[in-house]
Amino acid sequence: MPYVLLFFTLMSQSETRTVPLPPTSGGLKGKDPKKGGLVVGYLERSPYVQNVTKTALSFLWETPTYEKCVIKLTAASTGVEHTLTSGPSRHHEVRFTGLSPQTRYAYRVESIQGVWAGTVETAPGTDTPFSFLVFGDNRNGHQAHRNIIKAMTVEAASFFINTGDLTADGADKANYIRFLRIEAPLMKRIPLFPVVGNHENAFAGGGLAHWRRFFALPTDGPEKELVYSFVWGNSRFFFLDTNKPFVGSRQAKWFREQLQATAFDAKVKHIFVFVHQSPYTSGPHGPHQGIHEAGLVDDMRRFGVDMTFAAHDHIYERGRVDGLNYIVTGGGGAPTYFVRTHKPFSILAEPTYHYCRLNVQGDTVEFSAHHSDGSLIDFFTIKKVRDGDNPRIEVLSEHRKGLHVAPSAPKLPVPPKESPPAQMENEPEPQTLPRSRFGSPIPYVLGLLGSLVLISAFAWSRLRRRR
Ligand SMILES: [Fe+2]
Repeated sequence: MPYVLLFFTLMSQSETRTVPLPPTSGGLKGKDPKKGGLVVGYLERSPYVQNVTKTALSFLWETPTYEKCVIKLTAASTGVEHTLTSGPSRHHEVRFTGLSPQTRYAYRVESIQGVWAGTVETAPGTDTPFSFLVFGDNRNGHQAHRNIIKAMTVEAASFFINTGDLTADGADKANYIRFLRIEAPLMKRIPLFPVVGNHENAFAGGGLAHWRRFFALPTDGPEKELVYSFVWGNSRFFFLDTNKPFVGSRQAKWFREQLQATAFDAKVKHIFVFVHQSPYTSGPHGPHQGIHEAGLVDDMRRFGVDMTFAAHDHIYERGRVDGLNYIVTGGGGAPTYFVRTHKPFSILAEPTYHYCRLNVQGDTVEFSAHHSDGSLIDFFTIKKVRDGDNPRIEVLSEHRKGLHVAPSAPKLPVPPKESPPAQMENEPEPQTLPRSRFGSPIPYVLGLLGSLVLISAFAWSRLRRRR
């Protein structure tokens, strides 16, 4: 009988799910301006903007066949044109330099497939207010990911940040193609600055060729495009790779030196730090120990980091520990986790899909977190104060909802075991609640029904024989 039950159970689970790739976007239908032919309108990756600075920006796209493409930038205010040619290639990457700060440019990519067009804007000067968005850990939660992107698309932001685990497996190109197509509504006009997560296969390195191919990121750090920083307005943004050991590492040394230099740079008022695994969290993965052991959390506090952002735990959380504000924003699409232990320093923690918006203006930073329908989860406003050489963060206002206690926490799905490269050597596997082998009751029901049918048939045949 157990075999019968197993057979029906396995049969009921054997469905395969395929999700079609979303279409490319941004193509202009009509006649090819060069050849007069019909525009096919297909690109593997439609043009997206990367690594925007005050005077430079990059574009990347992928054509289905080898070809030369022409891309033109035209300054909206002056009409000044910049033209570059790429290829012959399928993967196209160009970088415009010598641009004007805080200037809107119209772009136009001409391919034999058609014409792709849009607008982008270069970074502003030091004192210009700006907004940016943060979310993370979308992995393969495509529909939830689309919903978040749709909500973020209506926000007026200069750029957005993904706190890691952009893909379920970074070694699989199809994952990146899908990711880029879902994010195309944003990426065609503002740059994405991503954090490398464990699912990007950072530890083993297998997915990093894709990472470097599909993104053009700053190269000022010790590990090209993985550990980097940039300045936008009056703020500096640091991106670290928490998939690797920290103690005694090149990135720890670089980060400490840069933090110290930034703390005494009068042009930089705010410092934001982005990692995949958080120094503090109430989620099941627990805090990243290496960043503490390397002394970097103390350094962040000492040198006046305004906020740290992370993912890895698929929850929303905001907390403050000895003046250091931390955000866990891992609700970008992957299945949400439960809040495991409500830490005393946690201000608000809940498993929900969400994104964060930040408005930076002078000394103040307004933070808010939103559900994927745009509704408000949380907010707080801080002010950066300098007491001589000691930077300090003052909280001007904040939403205190109280600690959220999930009533059904033991029944919520627990995080699946991360891929082996995911875990730091010094990071223990999260202790999780016993997980049901099957996510759905349907297999049980089908198995039970099948068993009942067989038992009935067996009993009926025995009865008939006796008669
Ligand atoms: Fe992760």
